[in-house]
Amino acid sequence: MLLSRIARKITGSNGIQSLMEDLGSALGKPKGTTSLLGGGNPARIPEVEKIYKEALLQLISSGEIESMFGEYSSPIGNDDIRNATAEYLKEHLGAEIRGENIAFFNGSQNAYSYLLNCFSGTMEDGSFKKIILPIVPEYIGYADQTWEDNVFSSVVPKVLSTGAHRFRYGLDKENLDFASAGCVVLSRPTNPTGNVLSKEETLWLYEKTKEYKIPFLLDLAYGNPFPNLIGAAEPIHWMPGMILSLSFSKVGLPGVRTGIIIADAEIISLLSSFGAVGNLAVGNLGLSLAKVFWKENTLVKTANTILRPYYEEKSKIAVQILEEAFLSQNLAYSFHEPDGGFFLWIHFPRLKITNKELYRLCKERDVYIVSGHYFFPGLTTDFSHTKQCIRLTYCRDKEEIARGAKIIAEIVARNSSET
Ligand SMILES: Cc1ncc(COP(=O)(O)O)c(C=O)c1O
Repeated sequence: MLLSRIARKITGSNGIQSLMEDLGSALGKPKGTTSLLGGGNPARIPEVEKIYKEALLQLISSGEIESMFGEYSSPIGNDDIRNATAEYLKEHLGAEIRGENIAFFNGSQNAYSYLLNCFSGTMEDGSFKKIILPIVPEYIGYADQTWEDNVFSSVVPKVLSTGAHRFRYGLDKENLDFASAGCVVLSRPTNPTGNVLSKEETLWLYEKTKEYKIPFLLDLAYGNPFPNLIGAAEPIHWMPGMILSLSFSKVGLPGVRTGIIIADAEIISLLSSFGAVGNLAVGNLGLSLAKVFWKENTLVKTANTILRPYYEEKSKIAVQILEEAFLSQNLAYSFHEPDGGFFLWIHFPRLKITNKELYRLCKERDVYIVSGHYFFPGLTTDFSHTKQCIRLTYCRDKEEIARGAKIIAEIVARNSSET
């Protein structure tokens, strides 16, 4: 079949697709026989699901549901909900935000598929602009969204030891090249590592984007104000020139497919054109729920009283289970400091096979992990971590993690060098 170049690019093996396919194919298997440690689903927390169910019941009893089912909204949401969202978020994002600064999309992924292409590739003046990822590894979902090739630019991050079996990636300020940049993109917390870049370094990046007059895209899918999984780090506030994205997914509503962009009015109006052409309208469910959520402060309250303590505890338990398994096999391993987000990023410095091969061997035993090699778009320099790291979610139950930990440890032990 003759396909377009972009269709060929998208159908080629890409990380996000294999990840979502793994999620689907492993789902129907009996409990206890698989370890689904790959995906980005939030944990199912009955107490939280009950809160969302009650919000939905309010929509039904108030009659909102009829218009929710029966009417298209504006491409990025009607003015009333955009104004209400601005009013609500202004307190949480410490800025004078108005309705004209807000756009809703069918998930933040949907918004990024437009944003990344607005600010990279061949520009209207004929120049070619890059997307700067200031620290790789970075979110797998950006990599295949661009219509043009070779648009990502990244450098080997600083690898800072933070203690026994612990490290963190840091900005290599000297080598970041902003000259060809069309925009800068950072997820905070970062998926896959759980890194929450310090406020100071984040603001350094912001100043750079101002200097080069390019947008700074800050992906807060796991960040403040909800689910607020940022550990001890300071929250981000919106400032002109920043494009913030929030998501309803990581608070436990991935099926609702709602993402919110906060940006200068000029960018929002650009996005509105993309929303109209690509989606006609944003889905109504998330917008209607947002009305209830803002009125009752649901998401921020739930994040701080239930989600944060829940995920912090889960992360601690998972690290403990994994470390026990690794130590019992005498493995060389190091965890990225798990500051926030849903994931653990692990480096096996003596691994003799690639992480891609490790993924395959684990999958043969029904343990689903994500190979780290996907997370380095734009990196052209050799860096051992691209082949020796894996990403695991800790949002699964203890038994499932323990089963996976034992199998991963056995396979890594069998495929590691002595020194
Ligand atoms: C860092 C990050 N950004 C954005 C998304 C996309 O989220 P959604 O489209 O569900 O809002 C994800 C999903 O896993 C993510 O991990």
